[in-house]
Amino acid sequence: MSNVAVVTGGTRGIGKQIILDLAKKGYNIAFNYRSENTDFENLKQELKEIGVNVYGFKCDVTDFEKCEEFVKGIISEFGRIDVLVNNAGITKDGLLMRMKKEDFKDVIDVNLIGTFNLTRNVIPYMIKAKKGRIINISSVVGISGNAGQTNYSASKAGIIGFTKSLAKEVASRNITVNAIAPGFIQTQMTDVLKDEVKEEILKQIPQKRFGTTEDVANVVKFLASDESSYITGQVINVDGGMLM
Ligand SMILES: NC(=O)c1ccc[n+]([C@@H]2O[C@H](COP(=O)([O-])OP(=O)(O)OC[C@H]3O[C@@H](n4cnc5c(N)ncnc54)[C@H](OP(=O)(O)O)[C@@H]3O)[C@@H](O)[C@H]2O)c1
Repeated sequence: MSNVAVVTGGTRGIGKQIILDLAKKGYNIAFNYRSENTDFENLKQELKEIGVNVYGFKCDVTDFEKCEEFVKGIISEFGRIDVLVNNAGITKDGLLMRMKKEDFKDVIDVNLIGTFNLTRNVIPYMIKAKKGRIINISSVVGISGNAGQTNYSASKAGIIGFTKSLAKEVASRNITVNAIAPGFIQTQMTDVLKDEVKEEILKQIPQKRFGTTEDVANVVKFLASDESSYITGQVINVDGGMLM
């Protein structure tokens, strides 16, 4: 029976690329979507054309009970979960002096609590199977910090602490837990930045180019594979050398 990968926030950007690349590797795919206006039916169709089975579920990652329902649905559909990629994330940038309480909380809720909500519901099945790969999408700013992103940086730094702690808890159960810290990747999340901001960021990237969704998905494929079995509790930067 084929391996099963669960990817949160998979309807566009980095998550969608991860889904398509894992599907091409033969994984059956489970993903959630939040917005009504996503092209989730198209994604389902694309995956069917690749020849894998798909389970899509409407679920906000901030809702623990919905995440539980999502995971139970995957188990009844596929009977197993081999890989979990916690990818869903948002930004609500602004200087702390002007930041609203809700903007701080919303970002922590989606990025960090959402990662807990999925992982907490998936981990019992991985422990029972004595096998699993958990891959959390953090960010370089979770390591370096970034003015205007206290909320986002805190959430992404939290993901790194979560990753390392869980890696220690489940290492003996043949489950690896790693984080990826992308730099600047071209998606809808970064499209909204002003050109001047983008130019400033580009100056800080030694490879002199922005990252692509494929750059991140390639590392996910490796961390999901058997070849990465002796790597756990690590943070792998995918940033063209931006942060060394
Ligand atoms: N792009 C970059 O430069 C960059 C750099 C470092 C890290 N990252 C991280 O990489 C991940 C993917 O980013 P991206 O650039 O691909 O972003 P994106 O294009 O904005 O996509 C984000 C995805 O997350 C989903 N999502 C957001 N909130 C959700 C919620 N509450 N429940 C369920 N799904 C939710 C979105 O679904 P809806 O469409 O339904 O909202 C969407 O599918 C994020 O964790 C981000 O922080 C990105």
